[in-house]
Amino acid sequence: MNTLLFERPVWFATGPLILEEEAQEMEDFIYHRPVLAEEVVELLAPKPGSLVVDGTCGGGGHTEALLRTGADVLALDQDPDAVQHVTEQLAQFGRRVAVQQANFRHAHKVLDELGFGKIGGAFLDLGVSSRQLENAERGFSLMRNGPLDMRMDPRNELTAATVVNEYSGEQLTHLFRELGEEPAARRVASLIVKMRKTSPFRETLPLARAIEKVIVKNFFRYHSREWLDRPEWPAPQRNPNYDLKLITAKPVEPSEDEQRINPRSRTAKLRVAAKI
Ligand SMILES: C[S@@+](CC[C@H](N)C(=O)[O-])C[C@H]1O[C@@H](n2cnc3c(N)ncnc32)[C@H](O)[C@@H]1O
Repeated sequence: MNTLLFERPVWFATGPLILEEEAQEMEDFIYHRPVLAEEVVELLAPKPGSLVVDGTCGGGGHTEALLRTGADVLALDQDPDAVQHVTEQLAQFGRRVAVQQANFRHAHKVLDELGFGKIGGAFLDLGVSSRQLENAERGFSLMRNGPLDMRMDPRNELTAATVVNEYSGEQLTHLFRELGEEPAARRVASLIVKMRKTSPFRETLPLARAIEKVIVKNFFRYHSREWLDRPEWPAPQRNPNYDLKLITAKPVEPSEDEQRINPRSRTAKLRVAAKI
């Protein structure tokens, strides 16, 4: 079976993030659809009247499910937009819910300030809300171009643009490897450092496209290598993920004619491999 993968602008890439965004476009506006809400309630099993801290309240879906069990909730989020939304959305629960803008790392301070001594449970739903992804201005979207911002709390000074344009190659590698679990961390970091010398990254899509290229290239290279070697290994080892035979040694690019007729094709790179 031949596997065809196109290295193209980001709308050709697949991944949960992009699929989620595409799906979102088709739906009516929903701030964020809570995931595994029934399971959360069942497993956390809060006692009625106890206080649960929801450290990442987002669109308030989990907060509401917890409130419906009879527990009270302290709902935190570092994004003021989420705080405003949840405050309005869950007003019907009156004093049973307290909503505050805070990083959950400061939950103990908020609890002290509000005079709560004891909690019956805590819940974190880590990640980005659909609303944050949806709004290009926030700089989280890989589908819609926007400023390279990515601050959940706009009071913070550090933007993604500062990280991408000012962190050293080593710092970026560490960030992508440790926080992003990205196998091509070093290559992605090197590419960013090289590209930003010509022109700094200011928007989300140019960065997403650049990174996508390295990731696709790395995928093909890694999956087509039968043996792996590292300086710290006594001998090369067989690659457990060796499952591709490259058909195109180098990516195929559109001809000048095609590029003239369709200028958007300029960045396209076609890589073909057969599944072993
Ligand atoms: C996946 S959403 C949560 C969705 C939510 N459970 C719901 O039902 O709608 C993640 C939320 O966590 C928030 N967040 C991420 N890191 C945070 C942190 N360190 N402190 C507080 N909020 C955080 C984001 O702003 C975002 O709104």
